[in-house]
Amino acid sequence: MSDRDAPIGVFDSGIGGWTVLSEIRRELPAETLLYVADSACAPYGDRTPAFITERALAIAGWLVAAGAKALVVACNTATSAAVGELRRRYSLPIVAIEPAVKPAALLTQSGVVAVLATRRTVESENFSRLRDAHGGEVTILAQACPGLVEQVEAGALDSPETRQLLADYALPLQARGADTFVLACTHYPFLIDSLRAVLGPAVNIIDPAPAVARELRRRLAAAEALASGPALGQTLAYTSGDPQRLAAQLRTLNETPAMVAGLTLPAHSASA
Ligand code: DGL
Repeated sequence: MSDRDAPIGVFDSGIGGWTVLSEIRRELPAETLLYVADSACAPYGDRTPAFITERALAIAGWLVAAGAKALVVACNTATSAAVGELRRRYSLPIVAIEPAVKPAALLTQSGVVAVLATRRTVESENFSRLRDAHGGEVTILAQACPGLVEQVEAGALDSPETRQLLADYALPLQARGADTFVLACTHYPFLIDSLRAVLGPAVNIIDPAPAVARELRRRLAAAEALASGPALGQTLAYTSGDPQRLAAQLRTLNETPAMVAGLTLPAHSASA
C-alpha cells in the first residue's frame, strides 16, 4: 500500500518533460513532484535504445529510492526505448507519454496527420505499432526533427534559427496535406507559438501532456494513492548536469520550483 503523500517522479532528458509536469501540477495540485532532467546526457534523440534504457532505469531507480509512489516518463524517446523494461522492473504505477496518433487520426479533416518527434521515436517499434493501430484510412507522416531539442534547451524558443528549423520540418508536411500536427517530443510544446506562426491558424496542434496528467490521476485514484491534500504539493527539480543551468533555464520559462539540485546517477556503460 503506497503512502498517499509520497512524491511522484517525473523525468526527461532535459527540460522538455516540464511541459508534462506543468499539466500534472494543474491536474493534481496537492501532489509533491520530483522532476529529474538527465541534462548530462541530453539530448536522447539520436542515442541508442540501450543507452536510453540504461539512463531511464538509473533515473527510475533513483526516484524509487527517493520514495516515489508513481513514475511519469515525460519523454517520448525514453518511452519508446525503455517503457517495457521499466514496467518489468517496477510494480508501481508508470504513466508514459507517447505520440498522440489516435486523437490526431480522429481529428484530422484532410486525412493527413504529421508527427514531429526525435529520430529515435520515429524509428521505434512503439511508433510503428501506433501507426499500424491508428493509421487505417489516415496517412501518417512522421518527421524526425534534429536540432529542435537543442534550441529549447538553449532557451531559443522563437529565434530565427528555431523558426527556420520549424519551417524546414513542418511546411513540407503541410504541403502534403497535413492539417493536424502531433507534438511527439515533450520539448516541442515550448515551441507551439513559433510553430503556429509558421503553419498559420488553421492547423490542429496536439500536445498529449494534459491526457497524461489525466491518466496519472486515474491510475493514482485506482490505487487509492492520490495525495490527501488540501495543502499544495511542492515541486523539486534535480539534474544530472549543472543545477545552476537548470535553475536559469526554468527562470527563463517563468518556473520557480521549491528547489533545484544536482544528483549523481551511476555512470553509463551502454554505447551512446
Ligand atoms: N523530450 C524528449 C522526448 O519527448 C527527448 C528529447 C531528446 O532528448 O532528444 O522525446
